[in-house]
Amino acid sequence: MQVVRSKRALKAILSQQVNKIIGFVPTMGYLHEGHLALMKKARLENEFVVASVFVNPTQFGPSEDLEAYPRDEEKDQKQSERAGVDLLFIPSVEEIYPKDVSAQIKAVQAVDVLDGKARPGHFDGVLTVLLKLFMLVQPDRAYFGQKDAQQVAVVQNFVSDYFLPVNIRVVETVREPDGLAKSSRNVNLLEEERKEAPVIHQALLAGKARILDGCQNEKEILDAVREVLRAATLKLDYLALYSYPDFKPVTDFTKPIILAIAVQYEKARLIDNEIVRVSGGETNATNDDVC
Ligand code: PAF
Repeated sequence: MQVVRSKRALKAILSQQVNKIIGFVPTMGYLHEGHLALMKKARLENEFVVASVFVNPTQFGPSEDLEAYPRDEEKDQKQSERAGVDLLFIPSVEEIYPKDVSAQIKAVQAVDVLDGKARPGHFDGVLTVLLKLFMLVQPDRAYFGQKDAQQVAVVQNFVSDYFLPVNIRVVETVREPDGLAKSSRNVNLLEEERKEAPVIHQALLAGKARILDGCQNEKEILDAVREVLRAATLKLDYLALYSYPDFKPVTDFTKPIILAIAVQYEKARLIDNEIVRVSGGETNATNDDVC
């Protein structure tokens, strides 16, 4: 695996990969098995795999955890190599943002809810850095995790609206054995918080079970989630149900639904979601109204 830090070195290596199918895994580093699953999938599907490690400042709000975001470049390099990455790009902030931009990217669809609402400007920063990275790497495929479901939807819309020649591939959320979604931020959980945190996924599963049982009452579905969280110390940032992937109020329970949550612990904000497909044969319902 080669490691480069400059756009120039990145381009020089990419220019040697004539006609190869390129897979790209953009990350903010502090890699965990969720990232490695993306890299392994990229390895299987492409002839040349590029990954990036860049903690993108433009997607963090002024009161967010940019400084506290965990970093371990040495470990990231070893893990990327083991996962089959050919080229790892680790640029500095100056390399990606050498000067103020002349035009800005503003995400306008599917961003008035969940993280788009809770973190104003977050998706503008995500799209800005991805456009820059896509222009530099020019991948055929780019890989994202389902845990960031809203990010996936926003990126897919962007790529489609602007005819960006990259295929977005989505990989299932990877979880700890106790159900906690893998996240770089888990390392910032205090010991007691880490013990409690699997309750987040358990709560989502309780809500999902209600939907699959045929419940179509949003309040009762969300109450089922809240009931599981009742004794937990975490602070609920948001808990909501939307149609997926357009993130609109649910009007048709036979179409895919996302049950999404964000919680705040002392030093870590965690998100998770479950996508529910009642029409996909997944339903447990025996009648139409079991709330
Ligand atoms: O999902 C992330 O880690 C980031 O939002 C991404 C896609 C690498 C852009 O900085």
